[in-house]
Amino acid sequence: MREELLFFDLKRPPFAKDFALSETWIEPSRENAVSLLVRAVEARQHALVTGEPGVGKTVVVRAMAERLPATHHRVTYVWNVAVGRRDFYRNLSVALGFEPRGTAAAVFDGVQRELRAGWAEHRLHPVLIIDEAHVLPDATLQHLHILANFDRDANPLLSLVLVGLPELRDRLKLGVHRSLLTRIGTHVDIGRTTPDDTAAYVRNRLEYAGSRSEIFGLDAITTVHEMTAGVPRVVATLADMALRVAADRKEKHIGRAIIREAWKILPHH
Ligand SMILES: Nc1ncnc2c1ncn2[C@@H]1O[C@H](COP(=O)(O)OP(=O)(O)OP(=O)(O)O)[C@@H](O)[C@H]1O
Ligand SMILES: [Mg+2]
Repeated sequence: MREELLFFDLKRPPFAKDFALSETWIEPSRENAVSLLVRAVEARQHALVTGEPGVGKTVVVRAMAERLPATHHRVTYVWNVAVGRRDFYRNLSVALGFEPRGTAAAVFDGVQRELRAGWAEHRLHPVLIIDEAHVLPDATLQHLHILANFDRDANPLLSLVLVGLPELRDRLKLGVHRSLLTRIGTHVDIGRTTPDDTAAYVRNRLEYAGSRSEIFGLDAITTVHEMTAGVPRVVATLADMALRVAADRKEKHIGRAIIREAWKILPHH
């Protein structure tokens, strides 16, 4: 077990990257973003989620997926999309649970058939989340327009949820991608978190790890927020490093000085 876990008497690493879906925590100021997305998808619209690296886009979209009633939606999540059109549809086929066979056209037909079948048999609205969509090659992005246009009773056959860096929106404003953008009903921009969110996040993670004491002082949390500018991934990395530095120094209480020291070891400053 890591030394700082022993030192602070923690049951598990509080700021680990791999957390269960059921343990996803949404900052109070993000609730609105999640519910906007849930509403968009329930209205069978397409949605776009953008934000700087590490602000919590993937977490927000996971929370959205978690809240969609499973009796009405079939959520497919793809993220490895730096590939051409053909491989994109192959990945999508696998995510939809069938073996892609034959030519690109056949695979594309298969995807369409599979999406329609889900609706016909179980009345499940397909939701396709494409994470890291800013790396989609142009040809694949263009093809999404066709996918977005598939319809059923004049409604889209599926809801596309495109997730990516702010550049994604800039790209969608240009050239042929404009028509895809006009079909997207909801855009959610995930910004930085508020100081209250940062404090609540650190507290929540420490409770989750089984801490019974206030390890981080108020001044420490304020400093964490200032240094990380409210980017949750950096907050987690810094808080984690602060635990390590404090354990090395055998200090049970983390104040501003330890945060500053931990920050120097990180590459972000
Ligand atoms: N249980 C949790 N609930 C919510 N957020 C968490 C939880 N545990 C960790 N986090 C933090 O929230 C951060 C948000 O990261 P996320 O991967 O959603 O950002 P992102 O905007 O998708 O980044 P990228 O652009 O790199 O894909 C995680 O890296 C992590 O530090
Ligand atoms: Mg992400």
